[in-house]
Amino acid sequence: MFKFILPVLLLITSCLGRPESQIRRFPNDFLWGVGSSAYQIEGGWNADDKGESIWDFLTHTHPEKIADQSNADISADSYHQWKRDVQMVKKLNVGTYRFSLSWPRIMPGGYKNRVSTAGIKYYSNLIDELLRYNITPMVTIYHWDLPQKLQELGGWTNPEIIPLFKDYARFVLKTYGDRVKTWTTINEPWHVCECGLGLDYMAPSYNYPGIPSYLCGHNLLKAHAEVVHMYREQFQSKQGGRIGITLDTSWMEPKDINSTDDREASERAMQFYLGWFAHPIFSEHGNYPKVMIERIRNLSKKQGFGVRSRLPEFTTEEIHRIRGTSDFFGINSYTTKLVTLNGHNNTGQFPVPSFNHDMGVVETQKGVDWPSSGSDWLKVYPKGMYNLLMWINREYNAPEILVTENGVSDRGGLEDYARVDYYNLYLSAVLDAIEDGVNITGYIAWSLMDSYEWKVGFTEKFGLYHVDFNSPKRTRTPKISARVFAQICKTNTIDLRYRPKLNEEQQQVAMAQLPAENQVARTSGASQLKSEGSSSPGSL
Ligand code: NOJ
Repeated sequence: MFKFILPVLLLITSCLGRPESQIRRFPNDFLWGVGSSAYQIEGGWNADDKGESIWDFLTHTHPEKIADQSNADISADSYHQWKRDVQMVKKLNVGTYRFSLSWPRIMPGGYKNRVSTAGIKYYSNLIDELLRYNITPMVTIYHWDLPQKLQELGGWTNPEIIPLFKDYARFVLKTYGDRVKTWTTINEPWHVCECGLGLDYMAPSYNYPGIPSYLCGHNLLKAHAEVVHMYREQFQSKQGGRIGITLDTSWMEPKDINSTDDREASERAMQFYLGWFAHPIFSEHGNYPKVMIERIRNLSKKQGFGVRSRLPEFTTEEIHRIRGTSDFFGINSYTTKLVTLNGHNNTGQFPVPSFNHDMGVVETQKGVDWPSSGSDWLKVYPKGMYNLLMWINREYNAPEILVTENGVSDRGGLEDYARVDYYNLYLSAVLDAIEDGVNITGYIAWSLMDSYEWKVGFTEKFGLYHVDFNSPKRTRTPKISARVFAQICKTNTIDLRYRPKLNEEQQQVAMAQLPAENQVARTSGASQLKSEGSSSPGSL
């Protein structure tokens, strides 16, 4: 009897879709975290003996490339306010803080011949402070701030970067590995290589399509693998930690799900964006995805490059060395694109050669009714997150997945209900994937606080905490989303009914941000509390 009832019940539930529950629970041991990165929050760009990074160089020499011509010389001043940062992390009830180390802060010239005592101490203090409050540090070794001196040697396009990255990584693993048990080598290789070199979206802003990004990817994968082997051989058994990589992609949704071409576009785009770095590490046979190898080889031949493809080849030994070099699948994702095949009539829309031309897929977000709270690219489509997690699960044989970044930007303010909705909806999508068998063990919200958002400077905000960039103290104030996220982490539950209003402290800060003529109206109802100073932990 039961043998019959259970499958029927399951069938009915799946036909009806998931029950629209207001309250949903995560597995008991689910890991909650919040993230940041060195260049985006630290400031202190030349404090003590810190060296120059490619972002210092780009923002100082080409401010016109940044939306508001700003730089992160001071940013949220975490170089001085790390104790306050730890208090904020603690108030969010998360177990993990994901942050990155700045290579030029630790090795000012990029080489191991000169290390900065002040730089080493900065991260050591931060790690100790986190541990004091039982917060687990998750450390990214490289989050985009390459020492400028190494860029002058060609940066990631020069194979010399492999031993140099290894030297830097060895030093930090040795120095901090007694206390840091979760490492990621590199954040978002696709952005490092394609946005930095193929396009001009990120430092060093080469805008040189079709060649350097593939050299970068090749060296980056080898450098990553060398560091993981070194960790496993020299540190892992003694230190007992884990090491992996954080990849990124938007979900690539077929524009018309009934079109075979659009479904092919989706699959191909996933392989180019994510497979480029995921396939060599996580797939059964390693190496780049077949579709990338073939398309780039054929196009290179047609374009007169001869038999040497613009996508370099791995030797069999290298394929084996890279395969399996991640203890978990770290994924950053924010949005979805609609994709369709680039037909003959679309010739000319991409430079030749280029990553996009090689991929031969057209992406768009036009015509969708997905909301956005202030960004050109970040449209809210939670189903895309679910689809992406299912795709990774299928494609790479059910790896352990850590969502290492997810969040939404807006143009500022403390009443960020759009962010609250985003977290609830995306977390619901994560939970759907867990319920459908995907091994997702943690979720790290981006970001702890408002910070420098690369090429868009301070015009877009991702923080759970607001930072007043006009005050010398860089005063931090929790937004509504901080209170909701803290509740989620505390209860291990998303509760769509929980929509707190601004408390007195928040009202006061919100009011101070309004133009003077609007402040009177806002005062009614708000008590006369003093705005919270940067050292006071406040209500959250
Ligand atoms: C990914 C990057 O890792 C992070 O630095 C950035 O702020 C977020 N995406 C949002 O764009």
